[in-house]
Amino acid sequence: MERGMSQLFTPVRIGRRTLPNRLVMAPMTRSRADGDGVPSDMTATYYAQRASAGLIISEGVFPSALGKGYVHTPGIETEAQVAAWKQVTEAVHARGGRIFMQLMHCGRVSHPSLLNGATPVAPSAIKPEGQARTPAGQVDFVTPRELSLTEIAGVIDDYRQATRRAIDAGFDGVELHGASGYLPEQFLSSGSNQRQDQYGGSIQGRARFVLEVLAAMVAEAGADRVGIKISPEMNYNSIIDAAPQETYAYLVDKLRGLGLAYLHVALFGAKFDYHALLRPRFDGAYLIGGGLTQHSAEGVLAEGKADATVFGSAFLANPDLPERFRQGAALNTPDRNTFFAPPTANGYIDYPALAVAEVA
Ligand SMILES: Cc1cc2nc3c(=O)[nH]c(=O)nc-3n(C[C@H](O)[C@H](O)[C@H](O)COP(=O)(O)O)c2cc1C
Repeated sequence: MERGMSQLFTPVRIGRRTLPNRLVMAPMTRSRADGDGVPSDMTATYYAQRASAGLIISEGVFPSALGKGYVHTPGIETEAQVAAWKQVTEAVHARGGRIFMQLMHCGRVSHPSLLNGATPVAPSAIKPEGQARTPAGQVDFVTPRELSLTEIAGVIDDYRQATRRAIDAGFDGVELHGASGYLPEQFLSSGSNQRQDQYGGSIQGRARFVLEVLAAMVAEAGADRVGIKISPEMNYNSIIDAAPQETYAYLVDKLRGLGLAYLHVALFGAKFDYHALLRPRFDGAYLIGGGLTQHSAEGVLAEGKADATVFGSAFLANPDLPERFRQGAALNTPDRNTFFAPPTANGYIDYPALAVAEVA
């Protein structure tokens, strides 16, 4: 593709909105909320700085307190949380941007010290390997408690209510975090779901939770304001599925016809070409993320493999990423030490935009 003809900067329709470009900011946990899960004023600044993205997807937000999995992450359950998010959406909209909220229930990827002493919940009582990020630092995961059928209905309703509150707070839509080994993928995957009831066993059973959560979100927001993120074979947080190609083909077959705004597929080193398997099965906008560069994103779009491309750490470190791509300008380097810092501005809202960087 010739320079200057980049499809990155052509508009694209996603659900109810037309995005001015195909550069989407990936959902990224930044751990800058207070102990009550309330985002700070800095959070509004951080997202507003990045409003030139075609679409911003917020960091993972817990729909209810039991869904929290990391220290200093935000929620969308209390009045104070809703009020703070309203400031975020107003700041983004004032700068001409669009923003979806990612709903992230961590399930077993949590710790009692993040849950007021409660035991984390999961489809089955199977402990993930690794450690939780708690107020006291890194601590080994514990064995989670298996959710009862009544509790599953309650969690699904938590997602429904969270969706309502996100829309009330001014978000343009909501994304279900179905990736990275959190609760939805814990249900989906055979290694973490050994239930014998209707939420386990066959792929139909294991996919039921994800589909019912989506239905609840759709009931509140409308399908054209709901997306889902998946990450087949990422195997993060001890997630293993015995037959991931069948699992994801089944899931995406079930998504077709729902009228969802988008399917967001992030791949990290999977040898199998999931995009070739999944894209033809889906009828909404298809978003690709995971390790993209401007060059590879342009290739993805030129080959018609996706409708939009998702950038994580590059957006974190470059508030004006679209303008930098347009100019072919150098990029700021992401500082991993401040990805999940306690609530400080350092590495959060102090990455310079281009003009400032040049003058400095
Ligand atoms: C600091 C950081 C936090 C992240 N938090 C989340 C999250 O809350 N939800 C999510 O779905 N993905 C999360 N991710 C993954 C990103 O959304 C994205 O898939 C990943 O960074 C790959 O894109 P990249 O190579 O462009 O960075 C996070 C990534 C980073 C770097």
